[in-house]
Amino acid sequence: MATDLSMLEKAEAADHALSAEMDRYVIVKSAIYTSGERDPREPLPPHDARGKLHLMGHDPRLARMPAQPTLFDFFKCRFGPATHMLQSARLAQKNGCSEKIVLACLLHDLATSGFIRADHGYWAAQLVEPYVDEEVSFAIRYHQVLRFYPDESVGYAYPQSYVRLFGADFKPGAYLDREYEYARKHKYYMSARLLTVNDLYAFDPDVHVELEEFTDIVGRHFRQPGEGLGFDQSPSAHMWRTINWPTRYL
Ligand SMILES: [Fe+2]
Ligand SMILES: [Fe+2]
Repeated sequence: MATDLSMLEKAEAADHALSAEMDRYVIVKSAIYTSGERDPREPLPPHDARGKLHLMGHDPRLARMPAQPTLFDFFKCRFGPATHMLQSARLAQKNGCSEKIVLACLLHDLATSGFIRADHGYWAAQLVEPYVDEEVSFAIRYHQVLRFYPDESVGYAYPQSYVRLFGADFKPGAYLDREYEYARKHKYYMSARLLTVNDLYAFDPDVHVELEEFTDIVGRHFRQPGEGLGFDQSPSAHMWRTINWPTRYL
């Protein structure tokens, strides 16, 4: 009983602390988070900033990240459920793919689950590019494009799920046709293609995969910066910082 009460008290105290923090700050969303819901050309609705500061660090509503965050910290604190990527990585392993392809599968949709959905292959590739072999980032970048184009040589057909999602008459734009032509002739074409083959369309609710199963593969093929992702001055460090602190004013 005593523990129940103290747990309740703790929860209430945490609630109070959060609302006190929220009262202290003005938290503004970037245009890209709301574009479409509102017309980005319109001025922002006025907000009452009297007596408040504009948030320049950790968003009190989010899980706090360690000072030197690792890839797995981002998985645990900033990405949505990773079941799809974990199951794809497991499938690639089962199919005898190389460790680099397994890693590509593990990371391929991280933009969808934690950053920006549109052009997700490109964003994810850009995020990880400084830390992985170019074969891995190529596979991640082009899996998004290759998903639209069948390749019978490896038994990859146009996904039925895309017919459901986008309609039977959806056609990729001309810029994607060009990207496909480029990727098809590239030396890493088959790496990106293998990603589409292992990119599971459906989750198997009975298959449970832990992130930690891939600790060794990540250790061998993902160059984790000592300063932590976001603080290492790589060309994508600012993107990791934005995921860490998505609502900073500047
Ligand atoms: Fe994807
Ligand atoms: Fe996927």
